[in-house]
Amino acid sequence: MSTTQIFKNPRAKHNFQGRTCSITSVGSYVPDRIMTNAEMEKIVDTTDEWITSRTGIRQRRLAAESEYTSDMATKAAQRAMDKAGITADQIDLIIVATITPDMLFPSTACLVQNKLGARRAAAFDIEAACSGFIYAMEIGQQFIMSRTYETVLIIGAERLSSIVNWKDRNTCVLFGDGAGAAILQHRPDAHGLLTACMGADGDKAMLLCMPGGGSRIPATSDSVAAGLHHLQMDGKETFKNAVGAMVGAAQEALKRCETDISQIKLVIPHQANQRIIDAVGERLGVEKDQVFVNLDKYGNTSAASVGIALDEAVDQKRIVRGDLVLLVAFGAGLTWAAAVIEW
Ligand code: ACO
Repeated sequence: MSTTQIFKNPRAKHNFQGRTCSITSVGSYVPDRIMTNAEMEKIVDTTDEWITSRTGIRQRRLAAESEYTSDMATKAAQRAMDKAGITADQIDLIIVATITPDMLFPSTACLVQNKLGARRAAAFDIEAACSGFIYAMEIGQQFIMSRTYETVLIIGAERLSSIVNWKDRNTCVLFGDGAGAAILQHRPDAHGLLTACMGADGDKAMLLCMPGGGSRIPATSDSVAAGLHHLQMDGKETFKNAVGAMVGAAQEALKRCETDISQIKLVIPHQANQRIIDAVGERLGVEKDQVFVNLDKYGNTSAASVGIALDEAVDQKRIVRGDLVLLVAFGAGLTWAAAVIEW
């Protein structure tokens, strides 16, 4: 099955009687510790030149020893809440997208709920890897549009440094830690989230996975020795699928909004590889300055990447209220998603 043909957008059919879902605010957090490519050269057989030219990454952030996914998620969330003047008791629902939860259960969202003191909020995790932030946004907006909830907190947060194999140069140079968060609410004066397209292709699940630690391969000394508790990736195949899926999802999202790429102020793609971003940009027909990139500073932060980028884009005034923004992502699963929002 083609990775570009499966989309779901249930709300297109419905009349929501004036109800919209907007992003009220965004916030992000990255750990202080910077690891440069020069440091990578000391631990695996690689060079700054290879990493920069093949990926665009110059450095990444690493969580401190006792800093977990829920800590970074909470900090990003608190920043988003502060910007919107929202208190913890206003939050109805917390959704955390992550492939590196603090532990398999309870959910990281429950740990964040406790850290924020958001005692009224329901809380759960979702797992859609690098597409997680857009998936979480699409799930969260359903609760706003259905008038079930008024305030939903979505977070993409990752501590990928804890599952990376630091002896594998094919993967360890690519990833970093961080968190991005957004508050979703109905804003009467805005169209907000216009559409989102999500897709998946489980047939390619093993292209990018962590085989151990689940019910299939519980942790044993053998599974640890075999390296099954580390992220594994077929980079070449993942790359090929990424470009087609991101372009397909983005084009479908634009079509549903009856708009075209020239109306989009900024494209915010998942930050995995500069060459993927360039190929997607080229096929969408965007100008270079229409695409947001911060991959050089953070590497691939999976579910956190789009949230961190959106926060920085707002901070740098690359987008202002009323602008149309295209978010697009791709990740393990395989999963992909794109969304058009009126910021
Ligand atoms: N330093 C030096 N050489 C390296 C390194 C490194 N860090 N890594 C790989 N190489 C070598 C390989 O061993 C290979 O050598 P060989 O030809 O002697 O075997 C050579 O470089 C070329 O390797 P390729 O895999 O062909 O390199 P490629 O140009 O495809 O780049 C990369 C690899 C960067 C991983 C790319 O394939 C990629 O970005 N893939 C997509 C990753 C991605 O998008 N993931 C998204 C989702 S992540 C998520 O959801 C958690």
